[in-house]
Amino acid sequence: MNRMSLKDKVVVITGASSGIGEACAKLMAKEGAIVVLIARSADRLAKVAGEVVKHGGSAFTYPADLTDIEIVRRQAGRIRNEVGVPDMIINSAGAGNWLSIFETSEEEFTDMMAAPYFATIHTVKAFLPDMVKRNRGHIITLNSPACYFIFPGALGYSATRWATRAFQEGLAEELRSTGIAVTSIIAAKVDSPYFKNNPVSAERIPGIATSLMKTLTVEDVAFTVWRATRSRRRTIIVPWQMSLSVFLNRFFPGIFKLLMRATGYKGIPDEISRL
Ligand SMILES: NC(=O)c1ccc[n+]([C@@H]2O[C@H](COP(=O)([O-])OP(=O)(O)OC[C@H]3O[C@@H](n4cnc5c(N)ncnc54)[C@H](OP(=O)(O)O)[C@@H]3O)[C@@H](O)[C@H]2O)c1
Repeated sequence: MNRMSLKDKVVVITGASSGIGEACAKLMAKEGAIVVLIARSADRLAKVAGEVVKHGGSAFTYPADLTDIEIVRRQAGRIRNEVGVPDMIINSAGAGNWLSIFETSEEEFTDMMAAPYFATIHTVKAFLPDMVKRNRGHIITLNSPACYFIFPGALGYSATRWATRAFQEGLAEELRSTGIAVTSIIAAKVDSPYFKNNPVSAERIPGIATSLMKTLTVEDVAFTVWRATRSRRRTIIVPWQMSLSVFLNRFFPGIFKLLMRATGYKGIPDEISRL
């Protein structure tokens, strides 16, 4: 399924009520796709769909908490019957605050695993059998550079991103003999409501990252997703400085660990002393 034209293709986008998912919805619809928008807040999804339609696009909304398997199955069944089998899934639903082991409750660890990790799995599981039967499709998942590094004071966040990367890379291997492409998009800091929804996180981005690379816009990332639809590349990392850092980290992990310690969150000894 190389170089997929988006004209009249059914593109399911999770996390479409905000940020990167919303920007993807608008761009994919502009490229002619029929976009199927999923997130929890029905009113915000309706607003995004309204903007898509106003610009001549085609959009459907299916509100769902993607951490709830039964709701995902039900909504996926409706999507299949009412819109069709997806040609593409863009997984952009996710949340998670940057907090240490001492600051994170067991419940928060569970929630952070629930979305994006389980939300991505539930979405893929709900549609994959039909996509495989058709032997074509593309599954694209947004992820953070935290899937390669350990950011100090962001334990639950990092763990869920590493798990999501493992799922994506394993899925790509398992689907290798099929016509389904699997792509991870790893974006450095993006100017989106994410940081308002997950306070604390922005302050803990290691200085090495903020000083070396620009903050991306949601439109930049949507364009990267669009580029991904034109290829079967398994991983795309933006911007190029982050791509270079990930490459170098493979050979010099000790140096990056030291850089993270030197330029990242340093409050853990205080947290320990307060126990
Ligand atoms: N912003 C960044 O710097 C950055 C960088 C790299 C990667 N990312 C990743 O990209 C993804 C999107 O981030 P963003 O910046 O676009 O954040 P955002 O603006 O906060 O959007 C998150 C989206 O996920 C949805 N969502 C959250 N939990 C959900 C659930 N349980 N079920 C269904 N939908 C759910 C939210 O909608 P509802 O609240 O309506 O459900 C919202 O539409 C995240 O996984 C994030 O980790 C972000």
